Amino acid sequence: MLKWARVARQGTLRTASNPLGISAGLQSGLPSFFQESPHDSHGPQTSCFQSPHTAMHQQLLIQNGFQTSPHTSAWGPLWGQAPALDPFALVHTELESVSERLRRSVFTEIPALSTAAEYFFRLGAEGKRLRPTMLLLMASALSAASPSASFLQVDTRPPNVHPTEERRRQQRVAEISEMIHVASLLHDDVIDEATTRRGLKALNALFGNKVAILAGDFLLARASVTLASLRNTEVIELLSQVIEHLVSGEILQMTVADSELLSLDHYIKKTYFKTGSLMANSCRAIALLGGHPEPVCDLSWQYGRHLGLAFQFIDDLLDFTSSSSTLGKPALNDLKSGLATAPVLYAAQEFPELNPMILRKFKLDGDVAAAQKLVFRSQGIQMTRDLAAEHAGLAADAVSRMPPAQSEHAEQCQRALTAITERVLTRKK
Ligand code: FPP
Ligand code: MG
Repeated sequence: MLKWARVARQGTLRTASNPLGISAGLQSGLPSFFQESPHDSHGPQTSCFQSPHTAMHQQLLIQNGFQTSPHTSAWGPLWGQAPALDPFALVHTELESVSERLRRSVFTEIPALSTAAEYFFRLGAEGKRLRPTMLLLMASALSAASPSASFLQVDTRPPNVHPTEERRRQQRVAEISEMIHVASLLHDDVIDEATTRRGLKALNALFGNKVAILAGDFLLARASVTLASLRNTEVIELLSQVIEHLVSGEILQMTVADSELLSLDHYIKKTYFKTGSLMANSCRAIALLGGHPEPVCDLSWQYGRHLGLAFQFIDDLLDFTSSSSTLGKPALNDLKSGLATAPVLYAAQEFPELNPMILRKFKLDGDVAAAQKLVFRSQGIQMTRDLAAEHAGLAADAVSRMPPAQSEHAEQCQRALTAITERVLTRKK
């Protein structure tokens, strides 16, 4: 089984002039903000302006048991070459115990606060749980042993108690990451005056803005106590910075200058802050807590960053192509909120009549419908999908450059991390 991981690494085409082993189209300059990270040590990577190439991703998927078609991004398992792999099934039991601990962690003796804080952690309201799944897989992919049975039970110690066991500390990162994510959604729904989320009434619509904001604050407070319990200042710094990035991304989006409204660089920078940073820095925290050397921590960070970007580009595409009932939140919401995401920004390169609509934030009657029409006539949707595929490919590449798996379970988890890069592209909601 270990041969799969080795084959994937051998197959990555790395040369002196192409240290990442990526296709030529992927190697031009990255928007400058990407170079600001102290962990971004791999030099030039990708630009949102060039023609996206997905060959590397397809190659990695084939090597990891997925077949690809040049005409569609729907990849399926290559039966007979590698067993079909469900990333979520692989960590199901541990994920359930993290979810149960989350429900317990947000309990307080003030009933109204408990009800509000617990709202999106209840069974059936938990959403995709992509972040904890990815983080538990990352912990196992980098570890020699699969978690022992005792670590699959719910950790019932209070949030402030230091877990001496490495795996418990990594589970807490999964927990913290999900708490920060949900807190940001509660605040976001107030800002966006959202009425639905995850197919349910948004918390602000149910209990009002004040309770929703305070419930988000409460989740951040509990996340902070849990973070402090790790007794690891580097991890505390990483995840605190994530909160700063989430706020920065939201403010960047709110206050964007006219000169930046048409800029793909600005859009990608905002997307990193709003979605990429949480995934990148949580992944890095998992590797740090596992005691891995800096290059491995950095690959883990790269994986989270590129997966996060790919995830959000697809989210922005689904806003156009999916329905409100499938999404569990209103479709076409970005245009209606005045936001120009990748599909519109690409479409505007083809149909410049979109530019004034973007600049006036689709405020005139008929703007939303006209913009939607032009996006569908343009290559905007496909180019967004290609951009997402490019970043999914870079995430898969980061996995392929990780140290050889130390066990069959670790090897499966590495493949599952690669499989997630594919699922992010083919998801419908
Ligand atoms: C969803 O955006 C929102 C985010 C990814 C982050 C929002 C961040 C804040 C509100 C800052 C406050 C942060 C914390 C940690 C309290 P969206 O509106 O584009 O997506 P949607 O369609 O899912 O609403
Ligand atoms: Mg929103």
